[in-house]
Amino acid sequence: MKVTVVGAGNVGATCANVIAHKELANEVILVDIKEGIAEGKALDIWQTSGINNYDTRVKGVTNDYSKTTDSEVVVITSGLPRKPGMSRDDLISTNAAIVKSVTENVIKHSPEAILIVVSNPLDVMTYCAYLNSKLPSSKVMGMAGILDTARYRAFLADAINCSPKDIQAMLLGGHGDTMVPLPRYTTVSGIPVTELIDNERLDLIVDRTKKGGGELVALMGTSAWYAPGAAAAQMVESILKDQKRIFPVCAWLQGEYGMKDIYLGVPVVLGKNGIEKIIELKLNESEMKLLADSAKAVKEVMNVLDNLG
Ligand code: NAI
Ligand code: 2OP
Repeated sequence: MKVTVVGAGNVGATCANVIAHKELANEVILVDIKEGIAEGKALDIWQTSGINNYDTRVKGVTNDYSKTTDSEVVVITSGLPRKPGMSRDDLISTNAAIVKSVTENVIKHSPEAILIVVSNPLDVMTYCAYLNSKLPSSKVMGMAGILDTARYRAFLADAINCSPKDIQAMLLGGHGDTMVPLPRYTTVSGIPVTELIDNERLDLIVDRTKKGGGELVALMGTSAWYAPGAAAAQMVESILKDQKRIFPVCAWLQGEYGMKDIYLGVPVVLGKNGIEKIIELKLNESEMKLLADSAKAVKEVMNVLDNLG
């Protein structure tokens, strides 16, 4: 089995490292446009194999997509973070150009691949990959919900003083401040979370989760990579091992939740065919309103991409 990770920056290299450590594939190809960076990081990761006892081959290439041929899964992390003086529209057009060219190159060599997009703005870059890959929507998805629920679970574990392993949580919507963590669908070893923490503290955790990416940017001057890389690798694992795990994933909606022609975070079953099912939760009125608000925010940015042509 072969996985390609495009973008050998913080998130891409971390994702390749986790895939190798967990031996999820026989081969991981790391691609970057910057001369030498993918080769160097891949070599460094591969040199941990004897220490960490794995034999997944990790190889790096500079923009040579022939080496990615017949990848089962491709993770796309290439893209720029927003810089001072750059408008949101500038960022969208820059990253959309990157995601478009990367997608076309990937599909040329791996027409059957499943694509997992990580680049921001996440929901819209996933839409961009979908448009340019011409793959069925079941094979083009975005990573955000696993990361956002992992942050939510970590905050809850601290507050409740329990293991994050025991926390089950679901979250909907776009990857941004409008995301919708769902306390009603959060349990700790089957116990409703509301029995273990008061509403005031829970509300603060929900709010912190929504701003979780920004909290890390403020601390580090750049966005996170350990949890994002691990989250993308978890999606790769569910697909390659046909685990059929249920995760929040950015997926193309065609009527689900009353929404059409939009990429949005929803619970899905993830298996060897990609998104094998979208699960529709029975939301109450206020949850549905929050999801509609999030969809509106995502749609506005999708429109910016559409208007760019
Ligand atoms: P980074 O700057 O460390 O790495 C990006 C890499 O992409 C660089 O090495 C760059 O040379 C490469 N690149 C640029 N254009 C390319 C092209 N045409 N082909 C191949 N490689 C190209 O950035 P980092 O921290 O790894 O983040 C990557 C992206 O992921 C950003 O857009 C970031 O906002 C996003 N992100 C998304 C998350 C999510 O939850 N979906 C979480 C964290 C980051
Ligand atoms: C994150 O949530 C910024 O999308 C990035 O860490």
